[in-house]
Amino acid sequence: QEAHAAEMERTFIAIKPDGVQRGLIAEIISRFERKGYKLVAIKLVVPTKGFAEKHYHDLKERPFFSGLCDFLSSGPVLAMVWEGEGVIKYGRKLIGATDPQKSEPGTIRGDLAVVVGRNIIHGSDGPETAKDEIKLWFYPEELVSYSSNAEKWIY
Ligand code: TYD
Repeated sequence: QEAHAAEMERTFIAIKPDGVQRGLIAEIISRFERKGYKLVAIKLVVPTKGFAEKHYHDLKERPFFSGLCDFLSSGPVLAMVWEGEGVIKYGRKLIGATDPQKSEPGTIRGDLAVVVGRNIIHGSDGPETAKDEIKLWFYPEELVSYSSNAEKWIY
């Protein structure tokens, strides 16, 4: 059980300042929770612009980069790590397409957002970015290892 938990896939998920301000924290967390994923780290932080630039470093050549980093650092962000089989890819599925105009209904962005610059949530796009982003946002001791009673009913 311990070894199994240690190997379990993890992803970084963040509710952006618009999602926090709109009171969507519980709505978003409940979707990951009900799916069967396990919350292993969570904190509310106001990132500096420099920190936001680190988080989005892959996009630094894009025209929207500065505005995006201003936005991410404009208020509290709820940073989380979620764990479970397939959580990186399926987490992106729960979130929906980047542009909420193109996200399917039933997804977080499809149901709850309207424009790309205010798309309320971030999720790592692959195993490498998941590792990097978890490391950027959390100290190792902030990741809590525990076995949840629900797991034996999910796996
Ligand atoms: P990206 O990593 O391409 O998308 P995702 O968040 O789905 O992984 O882009 C990061 C964020 O940048 C995106 O969530 C919203 C913002 N963005 C814009 O503001 N305009 C754009 O044209 C794009 C592509 C993204």
